[in-house]
Amino acid sequence: MSEEKRNKSSVNSAKHSFSLQIHNKGDYLDSVSKKSTWLELLAQQEDLEIIKQNIVADKVFKIEGHEGVFEFFYLLTGKIKYMGNDKILEPGDYITTKNLDQQVYFKTLSEVNLIYVTNTPIFTNKQEEIQTLLDLNREIEARDQQTRDHCRRLQDLSRRTGEELALSQEKLFSLIFASFLHDIGKASVPVEILQKPDKLSPEEWNIVQQHPEVGKDMILEHMDSSFFERVAQIILQHHESYDGSGYPKGLSGDEILIEAQILSVVDSYDAMSHNRPYQKAKNREKVLKEIKNCSGQQFAPEVVDAFLKAEEKYAVEGIDPREII
Ligand SMILES: [Fe+2]
Ligand SMILES: [Fe+2]
Repeated sequence: MSEEKRNKSSVNSAKHSFSLQIHNKGDYLDSVSKKSTWLELLAQQEDLEIIKQNIVADKVFKIEGHEGVFEFFYLLTGKIKYMGNDKILEPGDYITTKNLDQQVYFKTLSEVNLIYVTNTPIFTNKQEEIQTLLDLNREIEARDQQTRDHCRRLQDLSRRTGEELALSQEKLFSLIFASFLHDIGKASVPVEILQKPDKLSPEEWNIVQQHPEVGKDMILEHMDSSFFERVAQIILQHHESYDGSGYPKGLSGDEILIEAQILSVVDSYDAMSHNRPYQKAKNREKVLKEIKNCSGQQFAPEVVDAFLKAEEKYAVEGIDPREII
């Protein structure tokens, strides 16, 4: 709304601290957009925020409360499924949360519009969080098309493998994010090293091996929710091996998060299946043979088994075109 328009529809009286503002449809104080969601800040009063949110169909989203936080969601249009018990919410249904001490997950069954009221000014935080993710995304995409496609394929294959292992919704979600961002720490590695077709020198190899740690720090620098803490840990561990021969810490077996164990198999599979500066792509048969050979050594046997089932479907169906982030 223009300043002139806003003044016309507001009445202020110092005597009674009276304020009336009539806003036209489409007016908002601030907004943020992401591929799958659009948020408009409709009104703000001290700690109170009233937000209109649009979410595209088929998206999993979470509500993460904290102590002292009250939240209210009123569904205007569309349908949502509560993943805790598969209950379907329809227009007019609403959700309230207070002092929520865990993350709860919902899935949009169609495009959804809702009104969101909170007593904690999350808009600014949300805006920063979404912006940071977008920046991280852009950083990956700007580097090269190959990396971008690699990340997209990983996202899909990781999810499929996680589903075979019946991972919780929360773990699936952290796995998907970590898969997409797993090599973000390579932003710190000079391109000459990344693109080098010959064997790396010990010094160069040392630089490359720092990327899980750098990636973890990049995520933690901006994200402070427990969800992103887990994403950061998965990224830190994505080059660890089941038998303890990986890096950076040489963790083994169950010391490695299940999401990182999955990511490690999927990452190797995709890297071997496509051309790299230092090696030519291998055919599917050879790649699968190599993955099986590494079962019980580099990779956890139960993860390899789940991966092989997931890969079979993936080979037939191709990459799922739905994007999570
Ligand atoms: Fe990596
Ligand atoms: Fe990778």
